[in-house]
Amino acid sequence: MDSVVSLHDVVRTYIMGDNEVRALRGVSFDISQGEFVSIMGPSGSGKSTCMNMIGCLDRPTSGIVKINGKETAKMSEKELSVLRNQTIGFVFQQYHLISSMNVIENVMLPLKYQKVDRNSRHEKALAALESVGLAERIHHKPHELSGGQKQRVAIARAMVTQPKILLADEPTGALDTETGKQVMEMFRKINKEQNTTIIIVTHDPRIGESTERCIRILDGQIVTE
Ligand SMILES: Nc1ncnc2c1ncn2[C@@H]1O[C@H](COP(=O)(O)OP(=O)(O)OP(=O)(O)O)[C@@H](O)[C@H]1O
Ligand SMILES: [Mg+2]
Repeated sequence: MDSVVSLHDVVRTYIMGDNEVRALRGVSFDISQGEFVSIMGPSGSGKSTCMNMIGCLDRPTSGIVKINGKETAKMSEKELSVLRNQTIGFVFQQYHLISSMNVIENVMLPLKYQKVDRNSRHEKALAALESVGLAERIHHKPHELSGGQKQRVAIARAMVTQPKILLADEPTGALDTETGKQVMEMFRKINKEQNTTIIIVTHDPRIGESTERCIRILDGQIVTE
């Protein structure tokens, strides 16, 4: 099977004055199209640094990161942003919805950057909102939704461009256990129905145990799978 994400001996060092912080110390793994994976580790272990590599938001100090077969270190900022826009959907702990826009406008936004015309933007956003069970909330503003609903809007927004990879950093971190489970179910459904590769970053062992595959990270190194 083809890897959509491939990290080989990835090192990321931050320079802080005279100190070096070694956030990733030689991380290697491959993720295939359609996998449902969690990256789990305690605070400060390097999860977000790892996620930034996969999300093409950062490049390694050394080692090789390939996303969809392309090596990110060799790409310009512009090429990286194109790869990001076409290949990856992002979901964050704090939803990051735009508060002045209603639900459907939020979901339509990524399509605007792809220069999709208004009618198809509306159609696609509505379909994405239907698939997360929020078709009857499209005119609500984010503050008129529950936490779980906000996260489902964020998932619809991440999915609306049909990215190959969905990256989520602590997507259930702000939710109670039951709502968190529903959000995980939503990811599972998208993974099954659309064969989207889903990568969830978490410190929560219950989330780690609920995914097909769990990559454990500690002090910038993979410990076990
Ligand atoms: N921009 C930065 N500059 C300097 N050091 C950094 C930077 N970003 C992260 N670090 C350091 O790298 C290490 C890994 O950080 P990272 O954010 O990847 O951890 P994390 O696993 O996501 O933690 P958390 O669960 O708290 O979000 C930490 O020691 C952190 O202090
Ligand atoms: Mg983090």
